[in-house]
Amino acid sequence: MILILLGPPGAGKGTQAQRLQDKHGLVQLSTGDMLRAAVAAGSETGLKAKAVMDRGELVSDEIMTGIISERLNDPDCKNGVILDGFPRTEAQAEALDKMLAEKGLVLNAVIEMKTDDDILVERITGRYTCAKCGAGYHDKFLKPAVEGVCDKCGGTEFNRRSDDNAETVTSRLKAYHEQTAPLLPYYRGRGVLKQVDGMAGIDEVTDQMEAVLQAI
Ligand code: AP5
Ligand code: MG
Ligand code: ZN
Repeated sequence: MILILLGPPGAGKGTQAQRLQDKHGLVQLSTGDMLRAAVAAGSETGLKAKAVMDRGELVSDEIMTGIISERLNDPDCKNGVILDGFPRTEAQAEALDKMLAEKGLVLNAVIEMKTDDDILVERITGRYTCAKCGAGYHDKFLKPAVEGVCDKCGGTEFNRRSDDNAETVTSRLKAYHEQTAPLLPYYRGRGVLKQVDGMAGIDEVTDQMEAVLQAI
């Protein structure tokens, strides 16, 4: 199964991809997480990407397509993947079509997470993740059961992203509307586009995701 989650920054792609991964044994491929790992490792790609990400712009299609194409060859991707944050431009979508055809894989669905822009800043500026296991939380919308302790692994250290500030979010939203939203008609025309209400509560969105998976 190959799924794409499509939505603006803060729509809940990462939150729902983690849940789908845990429940269905699909692998979450978050290009944002991969780039942040490259930044942390100090690799050449990471060094190039850091400045672009901090400006809220998009990293080059060439780098992104290369990263995904390589990752799809890993054995753990055999059961299926959830693409979280890729493709983000028409060139990336076309490159994905080509690589799936070459690997003999089929795109099952593109799930649009529909959200209003005005709630996204609050979602993004309140977000943090466990430093040990990467589980995602929010100051207001998703707190751990015990304050300061990760529900999943018991970790007590958390990170905030350097691009999660109001100014960068504005640029990221602009990049979404200009470069990524045109993918919606692209996939609608191919009959693979599904929608969930990204404004609903986190559990309700998960239920809607499950309904989409059941239907395909
Ligand atoms: P990336 O890491 O992909 O960031 P993004 O697309 O901006 O999306 P986010 O991760 O911010 O949002 P999300 O939808 O995952 O929301 P989340 O579930 O965390 O990319 C970062 C950068 O890398 C890009 O700007 C670009 O520079 C570069 N990049 C990455 N991929 C690229 C590509 N393919 N091409 C070029 N450049 C690329 O939720 C947010 C918060 O809200 C969380 O705290 C969560 O708990 C909470 N929340 C989630 N759902 C709900 C809900 N329903 N109700 C209430 N709260 C909720
Ligand atoms: Mg994310
Ligand atoms: Zn943890």
